[in-house]
Amino acid sequence: MRADLHPLEEAGRSSRTIDPCVLVIFGATGDLTSRKLAPAIYNLGREGLLPSNFACVGFARREKTDETFREELKTDISNFSRTKPLDEPFWNNFQNQLFYHQSEFDDDAGYIKLATLLKQLDSRHGTRGNRVFYLSIQPKYFAPVIEKLSKHGLIYDPHKNGGPWSRVIIEKPFGRDFDSAAALQKEISKYLDESQIYRIDHYLGKETVQNLLVFRFANSIFESIWNYKHIDQVQITVAEEIGIGTRGNFYEEEGMLRDMVQNHVMQLVSLVAMEPPVSLSASAIRDEKVKVLQSIRPFLPHDFETHAIRGQYGPGFINGQPVIGYRQEQNVHADSHIETYVALRLFVDNWRWAGVPFYIRAGKRLPKRGTEIAIIFKDAPGVLFQQHGHKHDPNVLAMRIQPDEGIALKINCKVPGPSSPIQPVKMDFRYGSYFGQSPPEAYERLIWDCILGDSTLFARCDEVEQSWQILTPILEYWAKHPNETFPNYPSGSWGPEIADTMIQTDNRSWRIL
Ligand code: BG6
Repeated sequence: MRADLHPLEEAGRSSRTIDPCVLVIFGATGDLTSRKLAPAIYNLGREGLLPSNFACVGFARREKTDETFREELKTDISNFSRTKPLDEPFWNNFQNQLFYHQSEFDDDAGYIKLATLLKQLDSRHGTRGNRVFYLSIQPKYFAPVIEKLSKHGLIYDPHKNGGPWSRVIIEKPFGRDFDSAAALQKEISKYLDESQIYRIDHYLGKETVQNLLVFRFANSIFESIWNYKHIDQVQITVAEEIGIGTRGNFYEEEGMLRDMVQNHVMQLVSLVAMEPPVSLSASAIRDEKVKVLQSIRPFLPHDFETHAIRGQYGPGFINGQPVIGYRQEQNVHADSHIETYVALRLFVDNWRWAGVPFYIRAGKRLPKRGTEIAIIFKDAPGVLFQQHGHKHDPNVLAMRIQPDEGIALKINCKVPGPSSPIQPVKMDFRYGSYFGQSPPEAYERLIWDCILGDSTLFARCDEVEQSWQILTPILEYWAKHPNETFPNYPSGSWGPEIADTMIQTDNRSWRIL
């Protein structure tokens, strides 16, 4: 692949060549494989984006034959693929490239057999020794699995020119706080070069998130107003209707700050706030993103109660249906203090963003699903149309990440007729209706990029560590001071009242989605 070509450049896409390879999925019987990875590989295959010499091995602890594994994947793909119904003729060929390998994650014998299987696949499928190892497993296994892969010769020296390559995709969470992320990084770098590590954050694979860069840097009209002189505030909302479902054990360990803020939300903050990169290379883009994180003002003790808000859902109603509270969910402690909602006020202390608050909120069991970045501009001078107590809405640029992906600009407009009232109207661009298709799933893009060796849309080590650096003091404070008001918002509401108080104290309010 030519290093100067980038996934965001259309011209670059078609001219990138893709090497043959085997994709090995660790955790192949898990939920992520069923819902996301299997459909992603299937759709990549159907669209002709996988290499023609390709095989996929599912690695997991349960006993299973290749045939059963294929049958299960077929069901998963039929249920969860964005394209339906299943394309039978394509599937009948494609399934012959799928294999199952049973082993414990710490069993040397399992890795010896895996190495033999991969060699056989190389000769049968022409995959030439190239490997992607996808670690969709509990974080405690990340380092041990990588150590075993290295021990059994499955991780290659990336500096050997012309030889086969090996890459490792690591699912989140990468660490639980700054120290554990740094320790994990130290451990895995004994076996892997940074160029071989692909820390996945599936938000970066979403079309609308990628479009943020295009929107900002391919349209000259926005750059001159993208700063503290014109922008009053930025609001980022990641709202979900769903609760934690069957992930009680996971949530009791992680909570919302670790699950979605440290990664997805901080990625959105970096993309909105970053400076134009010197090129579209992975390192240039990631350098600029890191600078944003480095500029975020550290939280001080007096902020922890007032500007780092946590919430936990109680029972309530979603779409008119009664739902249970977090503490009643399976595998959750009856007096759990884990947060399912977070709202923060951040400041990016650099020249561009001086004094502009970034309000972010992420929560489960909110009234509707919606991820949005809203740029709220300063009011127009009030001398002409805002007299006699009339106030107009500020201009708002809302980038809808999902659902109903698109961009809307709110502007004030004269209502036709002699009385001339002013009313805000929306100019609305929708991906679905304009391009006539829904965007591909994030995982498709990211698996494809990894096979191509393009790490632009993956998080670099310093990004992850910097993000933990900002948030770890909050986690430490919360651990020491459990919130005694939990549950503090009913399911189906927009979160705890104290999150409203936070923003109202600044004379602002949350956007209504
Ligand atoms: C995952 C979180 O990373 O993202 C989940 O672990 C969350 O808790 C999910 O539901 C949301 O992803 P999406 O693509 O539906 O916004």
